Amino acid sequence: MQPHLPFDEEFFMSLRLGDIAPNFVQSSTAGEIDFYAYLADSWGVLFSHPKDFTPVCTTELGQLSKLKSEFDRRNVKVIGLSVDGLSDHEKWSLDIEQTQGAALNFPLLADLDRKVSTLYDMIHPNANETFTVRSVFIIDPNKKVRLILTYPASTGRNFKELLRVIDSLQLTDQHKVATPANWEHGQDVIIVPSLNQEAAAKIFTEGWREVKPYLRYVKQPNT
Ligand code: BEZ
Repeated sequence: MQPHLPFDEEFFMSLRLGDIAPNFVQSSTAGEIDFYAYLADSWGVLFSHPKDFTPVCTTELGQLSKLKSEFDRRNVKVIGLSVDGLSDHEKWSLDIEQTQGAALNFPLLADLDRKVSTLYDMIHPNANETFTVRSVFIIDPNKKVRLILTYPASTGRNFKELLRVIDSLQLTDQHKVATPANWEHGQDVIIVPSLNQEAAAKIFTEGWREVKPYLRYVKQPNT
């Protein structure tokens, strides 16, 4: 079979980090949603799943519902999407509640016309012609795309990893620190390379542990 060729770039450009996340209006389990109005001044997680009434997706939506309060605590609004219709979403949400021990507690977009999945490049035809892949976009309060993840249909995502990334991004924005490999909340962080020694000394008045001039550890601020 011939693989699908990429779209003509003149007509289609996929989103990249730092781009402004495009707005849309689409129907959802919480009524019609204007994405920007839904996000207001919050951070956002927009994610797609391939299909309703499928096993991995069922566990994902249950897990995310259980973690919703952790997203709330970080001022993050969550919104899911598949190209299935509203009546399927509504029927399936009963299964999620019954099997996962948590009721769906965030909106699911019913992207039947593929408006949002096309805008966000969530259908990868060489993986599947019809369904969305498991995409994730983390969007900051200025509507900038700060993370893009793409998982295959057969692998459920780790939503605690999304919380870890959000913690890292918020630390960078608020305290000019980055987070090392495998960092977890409470562990030491790294002064961003864009701060020279003089600028760093003004912010990190208690000093830092310097392994190399470009690798400077401090305690995690705000703990
Ligand atoms: C699932 O959610 O279980 C699934 C969906 C599409 C393909 C494979 C698995």
